[in-house]
Amino acid sequence: MKVQHKLLVANWKMNGSAALVATMSDTLAVNSLTGVDVVICPPLTLLHSFAAKRNFKLGAQNVSQHQAGAYTGEISAAQLLEAEVSYVIIGHSERRELYSETDELIAAKVNTAVQAGLTPILCIGETIQQRQQEKTEQVLAQQLDAVYASQPELLAKSVIAYEPIWAIGTGESASPEQAQATHAFIRAHLAQLDSIAATEIKLLYGGSVNGENCSALFAQPDINGALVGGASLKAAEFAQICSSAQE
Ligand code: 13P
Repeated sequence: MKVQHKLLVANWKMNGSAALVATMSDTLAVNSLTGVDVVICPPLTLLHSFAAKRNFKLGAQNVSQHQAGAYTGEISAAQLLEAEVSYVIIGHSERRELYSETDELIAAKVNTAVQAGLTPILCIGETIQQRQQEKTEQVLAQQLDAVYASQPELLAKSVIAYEPIWAIGTGESASPEQAQATHAFIRAHLAQLDSIAATEIKLLYGGSVNGENCSALFAQPDINGALVGGASLKAAEFAQICSSAQE
């Protein structure tokens, strides 16, 4: 497989403040982030608090599938670009579950993001019941196909995050072996749609990643980085996770 930089994405969810922007920026600034790309996805109101000169990129946690118009409370891809956002998390399990986002809506959002020039970070993952019933691969294949089967050309412009729902915010990360096996399945499945894109696409693992378990996860051949929730709110720990992802 092609050697590539790892990608570390911080998903602050509905957390954070201008103080955390300052602490995180200062902490990352003194860390050499050679060989790793870092993206911070804060709440939208904090985007403007980041300095123009920084050694990481900005992301958003959601985007509208529409271009513009009467959609109260929504934000467009063009508006995110104007705010210097380059990545957008789409289809996080919290949005699927709590805001009833369907595969169809998620596919439309991925399409809108790519057309605008944003890189979508598509989140997929199974529940604990689905894993126990050995339906993990079936569920992931369905979530991937819903987005890419009809528009495989979007794969080359995407990042995919595998986030088992049972590992999110629970302190119980998937084991490196479990995560690797699932990532290998995802890559093989995507190869049926576009073999070159499947080789090059970044597959992130998310779910209780922390300063202790990150190195073993990053040592797996099909894990190209991480989508970090809770630990990305602690500047020192997040910087440590980023450092451990360096080549
Ligand atoms: P935690 O790292 O807090 O488990 O959250 C993972 C997540 O949902 C990132 O998108």
